[in-house]
Amino acid sequence: MSGDKQSLAAPRGMRDFYPDEMALQCRITDTWRASAERYGFQRYDACVVESLDLLKRKAGEEIVEQIYAFKDKSDRDLALRPEMTPTLARMVAARQGSLDLPLKWFAIAQCFRYERTTRGRKREHYQLNLDIIGEPAVTAETEVIAAAVDALLQLGLSLTDFRVRISSRALLGDILAASGIPIEHHAATFLALDKRGKLPDEKIAELLTEAGVASEAQGGVFDVLGLTDLDQVRDLLKGRASAALAELEACCTGLTAYGLGDAIVFDISVIRGLAYYTGIVFEAFDTEGKLRAIFGGGRYDNLLASVGGRPQTGVGLGFGDVVVAELLAERGLTGSDEARGRITVGFMTIDQQPIARRMAATLRSQGEQVDLALHPEKPRAFFARADKRRFAKAAYIGPDDVTQGTVRIKNMVTREEEPLPV
Ligand code: HAM
Repeated sequence: MSGDKQSLAAPRGMRDFYPDEMALQCRITDTWRASAERYGFQRYDACVVESLDLLKRKAGEEIVEQIYAFKDKSDRDLALRPEMTPTLARMVAARQGSLDLPLKWFAIAQCFRYERTTRGRKREHYQLNLDIIGEPAVTAETEVIAAAVDALLQLGLSLTDFRVRISSRALLGDILAASGIPIEHHAATFLALDKRGKLPDEKIAELLTEAGVASEAQGGVFDVLGLTDLDQVRDLLKGRASAALAELEACCTGLTAYGLGDAIVFDISVIRGLAYYTGIVFEAFDTEGKLRAIFGGGRYDNLLASVGGRPQTGVGLGFGDVVVAELLAERGLTGSDEARGRITVGFMTIDQQPIARRMAATLRSQGEQVDLALHPEKPRAFFARADKRRFAKAAYIGPDDVTQGTVRIKNMVTREEEPLPV
């Protein structure tokens, strides 16, 4: 065997979950599931391998560059999914006639993206996906956002720890139209503006030129990003009716009715990198703005039709495990007392093993989580192990206990002992 330490590490950007880390991971995914179910979403899943063609056509340009693609032995072009949304669209389109709409589905999906690994960005992550397909009303946006916020609160965070920044591509379209930018240039303009802060403004200007935005109009486009509240938007639209503005306001009203108003802020610069969004878009960040996005999503009106289904609107979000784990760590909320529910049973010599085994079997049949010692142990070693592994209770059986006919079960927190007849 080679002593090469490097080969023992997981591939770059990928994670192993040792039991201690898995405890937090399970707390996150269990909370996701509980919140999604509390909001009435049904779980679905799909294979992590998807057709490359579907992913290429549907993801934003940035994600396409990050796809882990390969050919199978029959020369099919496949890939590890970088996100769940194209797969969801494919699954819904495949059974569109028989599904009851609007449908509310959730998945907890491992996704792979060949990204530059930085804080909050890995090459593999788990993502809670919440989607509502077939509901044109903004109640859909309200429900997915409220369910994701519910999960953040259930994980122990409070409404002051994060902000959901919300905007609307349709509204931005109305504003661009009011600024004289023709509609055919809007989609490319959105993607160029989404790069603000990641690329220097000169580069963005080049992208705008490529998008067909004349250089004299570009100043106006940058000015749009300076809008900070909806009153300024109303002024800019000069009384023109905007359904998009009314929807954004209705969405915020719905979230306020859920008591979440303080965590929601209008932010015109939220555009999202994925090409398929058409309406309201949103992203959640930690309040201090130190970390990457916690979750993000929006409305997509054309995705179903573009994978071959009948036109149908959708709203959804993706909520990753990596950033929220960092935020929980920052707030000292990563603890898990999961092990505290368990009992361990030990014995001194092989003669007490049958009794220990019977005791473990009885407790297990009562639904307890029981760890049975695999070999005889001295009492000191047994109780040290019980403490270290954070068992709630420990029962140790020695020859005297058998003679006396009682076993003592020790509560490892209070140190009290409770006798139990053998
Ligand atoms: P996204 O913004 O690309 O959206 O990803 C959603 C979330 O996944 C991010 O906010 C972040 O928490 C997490 N995430 C993404 N990439 C990484 C990474 N490399 N490492 C760690 N975490 C990551 C989507 O994926 C859309 N498909 C969401 C959606 C669902 N839209 C509609 N339905």
